[in-house]
Amino acid sequence: MALIVEKIDDGTVIDHIPAGLGLKVLEILKIDKDYNARVALVMNAASRKMGKKDIVKIEGKKIDEKTANKIALIAPNATLNLIKNSEVVEKTPVKLPKELVGVFKCPNPQCMTNVEPIETIFKLEKMEPERKLRCSFCELVFEAKELLV
Ligand code: CTP
Ligand code: ZN
Repeated sequence: MALIVEKIDDGTVIDHIPAGLGLKVLEILKIDKDYNARVALVMNAASRKMGKKDIVKIEGKKIDEKTANKIALIAPNATLNLIKNSEVVEKTPVKLPKELVGVFKCPNPQCMTNVEPIETIFKLEKMEPERKLRCSFCELVFEAKELLV
């Protein structure tokens, strides 16, 4: 039987998230018990392209570019559907640039980005299966999941 989830009025629907990663996307968006508008997480929805997928709907939230970059690290084929007055007004695929500027904090306490007020730069090192990124300042390599906290 179909699982019916309400449409939202204004906000964002993140579609085509790999099955199992919807919760992580909510974590990236910092959605927790204190968020007071409607949120839906659909896990393991049927998808023609992906077999199974997760979908996240958040009322009242527009996703900025840096957050979209973070989502792209774990869900490279995700689509951001911007909803206004119950209509999809924009459909943007997330993008994963080769260089992420000012998106993450470097986990290395000795890194100069943690000492001086400069924006971090991380370069994509390795794509599959585990995404790794190199800090352009201290040159240490981190896994995506170490940065996404
Ligand atoms: N959606 C919603 N609330 C709205 C409008 C749309 O929750 N007011 C959801 C739809 O349920 C769907 C997603 O946003 O999960 C994208 O909507 P739409 O583009 O209409 O669906 P599709 O054509 O199926 O999307 P795609 O072609 O990207 O797979
Ligand atoms: Zn660093």
